[in-house]
Amino acid sequence: MLNLARRVQVSSQQLDEGLAALGLSGDQHIIVHSSLKSFGTLDGGAGTLLEALERCAATVVAPAFSYQTLLRGPESPIHSQFTRDTRVSRDIGRLSQTMIERPDAQRSFHPALSFVALGQHSDVVLARQTLANPYAPIGALYDLGGYALLAGVDHSSNTSIHYGEYLAGMPLLTRHVSYHGRVTACSFPNCSADFERLSPHVTPQTVHVGRSQLRLYRVRDLVDATVNLVRRDPEALLCTYPVCRCNQVRQTLRREGLKPREHDLDPRQLEEADTAELNAVH
Ligand SMILES: CC(C)(COP(=O)(O)OP(=O)(O)OC[C@H]1O[C@@H](n2cnc3c(N)ncnc32)[C@H](O)[C@@H]1OP(=O)(O)O)[C@@H](O)C(=O)NCCC(=O)NCCS
Ligand SMILES: [Zn+2]
Repeated sequence: MLNLARRVQVSSQQLDEGLAALGLSGDQHIIVHSSLKSFGTLDGGAGTLLEALERCAATVVAPAFSYQTLLRGPESPIHSQFTRDTRVSRDIGRLSQTMIERPDAQRSFHPALSFVALGQHSDVVLARQTLANPYAPIGALYDLGGYALLAGVDHSSNTSIHYGEYLAGMPLLTRHVSYHGRVTACSFPNCSADFERLSPHVTPQTVHVGRSQLRLYRVRDLVDATVNLVRRDPEALLCTYPVCRCNQVRQTLRREGLKPREHDLDPRQLEEADTAELNAVH
C-alpha cells in the first residue's frame, strides 16, 4: 500500500528537462546504461527513454551483450548462432533490447559482446570492434569526445571502464563463440562488480529524474582515470569474490604484470588526421 501511494510517475518532458540539465543539447555522442525501474514509473517505458535520448544526442550507443551465445569451451558444440536480432541478455536491460528492435539501429558483429547504435556516428563507433578488442567502440567515443550516461545504475554497468582496463594492460581471459560457423576464441574481461572503486577519481554531472539519479561522464575522463588507477594499483578494480573469474585475472597479473595496449585509431580518422596535417603544412 505504502509503496503504491509513493510511486513516482515520470513523463517524457521531465526526462527531456533532466537530460538538458546535464548539458546534452543534441550534438553529443553517448553510450547509455540504464535501469527503467530506477525512475519509478516512466510513461511509455523504454520507448520513451530512447526517444528522449535521440532528441538529446546525435549518436546513441548501448551495450547489446548476449551472453547466451558463449560456448563452454573450444571443443563445445555450437548451440546458438548470433544474428542481428539475437536477444540482448536480461541484465543488460530493456533499453538495449528496444534499440535492437528498431529496424534503423545498427548492431556490431560480436556474437557475445555486441553494441547497438542509432544516429550520426553509429557506423564509425561500431566498426571499431574486434574479437581481440571488444570494447573498441568506447575508443571511438573517446575520439569523438563522447559521454557515458548512467541512468539509475552505478559503475558496475560502466563499460567504458573496461576499455580503460584494456589500455592499461589488464590480462584478458579467453572465451569461445561461434563466428562464421566456426568455434572461435575471443577476449573476455574480468567482472565489473567492484567498478564503483573508480568513483572517487571521476566527477559526473548529475541530475535526478523521478527517483533516478542520472550521472554523465566524459568517456575520456573515465578511460584516463581508469588507466591512471590501474597503473598505480593494478588490482584496484578486480572483485574479491572467491569464485569469480577475477581471480584468474589476478593470478595472471601477479605472474606477468600489466601489458599496456595501444589505443587504435579508426583508419578513416587516421586518413582525416593525415589530410588535416597535410593541409596545415601546405
Ligand atoms: C540489470 C538492470 C538492467 C536492471 O534494471 P531494471 O530497471 O530492473 O531493468 P530494465 O532497465 O531492463 O527494465 C525492465 C524492468 O523495468 C520495469 N518496468 C517496466 N515498465 C516500466 C516503466 N514504464 N517504468 C519503469 N519501470 C518499468 C519492469 O519491472 C521491468 O522488469 P521485468 O521485465 O522483470 O518486469 C540494470 O540495473 C543495469 O545494470 N543496467 C545497465 C546494464 C549495462 O549497461 N551493463 C553493461 C555491462 S558492463
Ligand atoms: Zn569479479
